[in-house]
Amino acid sequence: DRQGFAHFMLKEIYEQPDVVRQCLAAYLKPGWDSDQDASLSSNPFNLALPDELFATVSEIQLVACGTSRHASLVAQYWFEQLAGIPTRVRSASEFVSAPFPLARNTLTIAVTQSGETADTLAAIAAAKRRSSPAESSLQSWLLGITNQSESSLTKAVDYTLPTLAGTEVGVAATKTFMAQLVVFCCLALEFAFRRQALSPQQLAPTIAALRSLPDQIETTLQHQHEPIQTIAQTFANVKDCIVLGRGINHAIALEGALKLKETTYIHAEGYAGGEFMHGPIALLDATVPVIAIAPAGSVYDSMLANTEKAKANGAPLIGITTVTEPADRTVFAHPLTVPAIDELLSPFLTVVPLQLLAYTIAVQRGLDVDRPRNITKTLTR
Ligand code: M6R
Repeated sequence: DRQGFAHFMLKEIYEQPDVVRQCLAAYLKPGWDSDQDASLSSNPFNLALPDELFATVSEIQLVACGTSRHASLVAQYWFEQLAGIPTRVRSASEFVSAPFPLARNTLTIAVTQSGETADTLAAIAAAKRRSSPAESSLQSWLLGITNQSESSLTKAVDYTLPTLAGTEVGVAATKTFMAQLVVFCCLALEFAFRRQALSPQQLAPTIAALRSLPDQIETTLQHQHEPIQTIAQTFANVKDCIVLGRGINHAIALEGALKLKETTYIHAEGYAGGEFMHGPIALLDATVPVIAIAPAGSVYDSMLANTEKAKANGAPLIGITTVTEPADRTVFAHPLTVPAIDELLSPFLTVVPLQLLAYTIAVQRGLDVDRPRNITKTLTR
């Protein structure tokens, strides 16, 4: 039931505030940040994973496909930058033939909305074989993150963290991506907390920010409607589009480009802002819009510098920025603003305008948004 929405994709985009609420209710203990002195030394998370896992893991490897791989790339940033754990991400389809060298105490996390993606199941089977008794000195852990608690994935792993997004019907993954981010963020923060990479006092504002996310996503959704209609009308017929992001939003640039490709059939490519300058910038002219993900934070100035170069090459500019950066309005012909947020959590908001833009352009082009050509919701072969 689309509940009054024209398409499941739109309904699922609008369900995201509730999905975040549900995941936080499951994975964050209530009251931790309100009862300051009494509770701050206790663990605020509810992930139900063994103490030994948190104590012994020295490396994390993430295997996934498509949008789930993009969530993993955001998570890599959190595991490394918040918890200080070396983390690698590989497409599940590449992992099978080229696995990472196995290190002692590796946590392998397979991420799949459906729990049935053949490549991801093959990757987890390969990881399992390698941690067989013959190599048992290399202790390893297998964890699944999935939206299907009863799936082939859950049978194959030692532990599962469900994403609690409810059924996703649209082929384009939206709310399940959001739920994957919440689960990953809680996991990375629990590692950081237990390993004292973050003190309770440092953690408290991040937990408070997580609790504000549902309202902030709602605000983001409300603010996008009008400008996105205009942008969709202006760019509905372009052939190519570039999405740029830096730091943690590089993964969101990849995800935005994937959403555009699969729903609108526009040739969209995501790049790291700096890397784009090393060749791909030659693609630009007045027919190739650039979407720059430039929320306030450590990479804001360098993103703006990239954007100005794109502008000098004639590209029309769409900017995803935070409300606190008034300069954006002069740089970007088409600003899309999200509420002010800590840079580390910004992917939760910056992805939303990209989802809506892909949806709106697809509708504008008269396409079957929920069932794009050539793909199925789950690739079981
Ligand atoms: O079910 P999974 O998360 O394993 O699916 C992986 C990809 O097939 C999936 O994310 C695909 O890229 C989506 N259509 C993206 O919107």
